[in-house]
Amino acid sequence: MSVTILVGGQWGDEGKGKVIDLLADGVDMVVRSQGGNNAGHTVVSEGREFRFQLIPSGILYPQVTCVIGHGMVVDPGAFLRELDTLRSQGISTDNLFISDRAHMVMPYHPALDKLGEHQRGDDRLGTTARGIGPCYEDKVRRIGFRIGDLQKPLFMAKKLAFVLRLKNETLTRLYDHDPFDEKAILDEYMGYAERLDRYIRDIYPVVQGALAQNRRILLEGAQGVMLDIDLGTYPYVTSSAPTAGGSLTGSGIPPSRIDRTVGVFKAYATRVGYGPFPTELTDSLGEYLREHGGEYGTVTGRARRTGWFDANVARYSVNTNGIDSIVVTKLDVLSGLDPLRIAVAYDSKGEAWDHPIANISHYKHCEPQYVEMPGWTESLRDCRRFEDLPANAQAYVTRLEELCAASVDVISVGPDRQHTIVRRPIV
Ligand code: GDP
Ligand code: IMO
Ligand code: MG
Repeated sequence: MSVTILVGGQWGDEGKGKVIDLLADGVDMVVRSQGGNNAGHTVVSEGREFRFQLIPSGILYPQVTCVIGHGMVVDPGAFLRELDTLRSQGISTDNLFISDRAHMVMPYHPALDKLGEHQRGDDRLGTTARGIGPCYEDKVRRIGFRIGDLQKPLFMAKKLAFVLRLKNETLTRLYDHDPFDEKAILDEYMGYAERLDRYIRDIYPVVQGALAQNRRILLEGAQGVMLDIDLGTYPYVTSSAPTAGGSLTGSGIPPSRIDRTVGVFKAYATRVGYGPFPTELTDSLGEYLREHGGEYGTVTGRARRTGWFDANVARYSVNTNGIDSIVVTKLDVLSGLDPLRIAVAYDSKGEAWDHPIANISHYKHCEPQYVEMPGWTESLRDCRRFEDLPANAQAYVTRLEELCAASVDVISVGPDRQHTIVRRPIV
């Protein structure tokens, strides 16, 4: 296998960081293609915890080249903070590159993110307030700054004068907010430029060189399919394409080079922020999942909403991304729950659905149809082979496999790298 795509199959936080870390040991390059520091990927290795927001989770392996692809939006201040944290943990960042084409989060983006949310009132999205949406808006409006612009101070100054006029107009007239100061922004960003310079690259030769030499490349997805700007529960989505397609456009790797697409799914479901979540549990069962699963956001610390595994969502993810290998995470969290439920269809006003509904107002009347499975009480933490799992846990995984029509190759039974059952190696 030379190029593997990894996507989150639900609403994000499926445990992608852990899986990337597992797979990164067997690859030469890890590329992130979309999103920014709205992502929070946790890796636990021999009891040490690392959290990644912008830097690919493969950085823990010194032999792996890590690339921040051109589809990402990078907050340079956040990047440098992450870099400093990693360095203080003794992690080398020598093999890290940022695409000069990646867009840059500017100081007015988080401000506009928060103000936009406030303006929406009850219809707010529950964004991470990191300015990700406003940054992608500017990219599409063709008034965005790119990381490579940091190497062109005169261009930055000229363009900022023009863009800031637009931004300050919106900030002051629409939101009654203080304007941003041009010189302060330039001073701040030119300060970043000095430190970022050595990481900025035209990643075309880096990625194409790796492809030409048949190097093993892993494309690290952020967020999840249901947060996709097109395929997700619009408008309660993020502003990029966290799908297999997005990982190609955001890295410059052609579809013909893809060997495998891996989907990471939690054994149940969670969502941070607002928007449809048909299998949500708002009772003590939901609370049980939140507490046992530690379901609090990596980025914002918000309590994650919890619910049963939704096979309608999972099948949709498998089919729209071409997932041919599934990793099921957090199976250990289900120990002690009996019975377990899996949504296999929706009923919306008498109409049957087997996949997510585009018209989100239909979710108000949407009743998931469940199958029940018997639970187990044993702890799964020490299971290392599929046969070590209690029979009911094996049956649960087999049922997920049948419902998703893709093979479950890896099962995660705890946060640490060692808490893993590999049924079939992925890379
Ligand atoms: P990501 O955004 O998809 O990388 O996921 P996050 O890191 O935001 O959230 C997943 C959380 O679950 C992290 O705290 C992980 O350490 C933890 N985790 C990952 N896999 C497992 C698992 O199999 N069992 C348990 N109990 N925790 C896990
Ligand atoms: P990882 O990579 C879970 C959610 C936010 C909000 C919506 C839009 O860790 O899985 P945004 O700030 O992107 O404009 O917010 O998307 N969201 C995530 N939820 N995991 C993530 O990333 C997320 N990134 C964004 O909570 O509902
Ligand atoms: Mg996360």
